[in-house]
Formats: sequence, structure tokens, C-alpha cells
Amino acid sequence: MENEVMNILMKRRSCRSFLQKDIEPEKKEMIQKATLRAPTAGNQLFYSIIDIKDRNIKEKLAVLCDNQPMIAKAPMVWLFVADVQKWENFYRLNGSVEKGKQRGIQERKVGAGELFLALDDALIAAQNAVIAAESFGIGSCYIGDILENHEQIVSMFSLPKYAAVATLLVFGYPKSTQELAHPSIRPSVDAVFMENSYQDYTLEKLKYAYGEQEKAMRRRKGLPEDSDETISDDYYFRKHMSDFMEEMNRSGKLLYQRWME
Ligand SMILES: Cc1cc2nc3c(=O)[nH]c(=O)nc-3n(C[C@H](O)[C@H](O)[C@H](O)COP(=O)(O)O)c2cc1C
Repeated sequence: MENEVMNILMKRRSCRSFLQKDIEPEKKEMIQKATLRAPTAGNQLFYSIIDIKDRNIKEKLAVLCDNQPMIAKAPMVWLFVADVQKWENFYRLNGSVEKGKQRGIQERKVGAGELFLALDDALIAAQNAVIAAESFGIGSCYIGDILENHEQIVSMFSLPKYAAVATLLVFGYPKSTQELAHPSIRPSVDAVFMENSYQDYTLEKLKYAYGEQEKAMRRRKGLPEDSDETISDDYYFRKHMSDFMEEMNRSGKLLYQRWME
């Protein structure tokens, strides 16, 4: 079954090289509006989005995010911030905290629950932005490495205590549509969906889930079909054991500690 939305969802690919062409203001505004239409916990919009226009900041980010020059070259770069600080300000500035005290209700500290809820909110909004952009032929890519270098990111963007980085998105018109012509490989749905409770992944099920990706990896790297290098070896050494993952874990711990202290 096909429709316009399904076509966009089924064909979307991450786009990493962009034409040096600005996104038209009216399209940008539509993407912004569609972003805000995302579901949000309690309709509180526990997120803020920083539109990074300054070239110097983009260039700094390109380095801080594990050297990804596409960040500096992308016409539109949005930082999604999980933001409970704005409601902390609202409660205080609008007198709700004071009212609470008068009613004998002690103020409660923001906690882990709010962090996760705000991260949910920010990421759901981000994906709305991705799909809205895609509907105008504008490509995008998430930059997970924004979770590295916590101290520098906090200071670069003057993030207050309860405003934590959720993700970074880069947008632009694709330089080449050829590299985006084929959707990336995904497992079949029964490799991911479970019924009623969690089912452990056996080796057999994992091979079933990632078999097609492994074949593609072999083709890409020109490894013979009978090579004993597996997809799990590849991800284990290249991702799991990488310096960037070490840094992301250090940085993520700081993010959590700053929020919780
Ligand atoms: C949380 C997250 C972090 C990502 N970080 C990066 C990144 O730092 N650099 C990058 O080039 N792609 C990044 N990606 C894009 C993924 O590599 C991409 O989604 C994946 O390979 C599947 O390809 P597709 O999006 O074209 O289907 C990220 C995606 C997600 C969801």
C-alpha cells in the first residue's frame, strides 16, 4: 500500500553532502511549524531548538563532533535541547513556587524522570523535522557525536542546568541524489518486533537480523564471501571499542551528573 507519507518514510536516507543552497524561508518556516506539531509530554514542549547560523560555531562543532566537516557545510544546523529549565523558570517567575510554599508544599527538585521525558520530547520533535524536510526534498542527518565533549558544548551554547543536549541535526539539499537512491538495509520486522514480553536474542536470531547488512558490508569492503570477518567483529572494533565511544560515555555521564547534582 502506498501513499505520500509512506513513500517518504520508506525512501528516506541520511544525507551527508549538501548543495551550497539555502533553504527557502517559507520551507524553513513550514519545517519549524511541523517540528512543533510533534507529540510532546503534557503539551509542555520540554525542548528548545538552537538554529546555528554562525559559521564559526558550525566549524567548531564539525571538529568537536569527531571531525565531521559536513556540519560546517550544511546550510541548516539545529541543536535539539532537552529543556526543563524553561518550566523551572516559569514556575518560579510566575509565582507558582511561592504559591506552593504558602500552601505548605515544598519545592521538588527536577530529576531523572524529567530528563528522560525531555529527551523523548526533543527527539520526537527532531524526527518530525526530518520528515517535514524530506517532504520538500531536503535531506538531513543526525549527529550523535554531539553527545561528546560535554563541557565545551555546554559552554558554547550557554546551556543552563536543566537544558541538556539531545541531538544535532544537519539539513540541506542533497548534492547527489545517486547516493540516496537506495534505502539502507533494515532487518525484516519479525527480527525486531516481539509479542507481549522481551525475547532474548539468540545468535541465530541475530544472524537473521543482521545477515543482509553483513552481506552488504562484505561487498563494500571487497571481502570474499567466505571471509571470517563478521558484522559483529566490524561493529565491535570500529564502534564499541572506539575512542569516540569512550568519549561519549565520559561526556554522557557528565550530562547526567550535572542534571542530577
Ligand atoms: C542517534 C543517531 C546518531 C547518528 N550520528 C551520526 C553521525 O554522527 N554521523 C553520521 O554521519 N551519521 C549519523 N547518524 C546517521 C546513521 O548513521 C544512519 O541513520 C544509519 O546509518 C542508517 O542509515 P539511513 O539513515 O540512511 O537509513 C546517526 C543517526 C542516529 C539516529
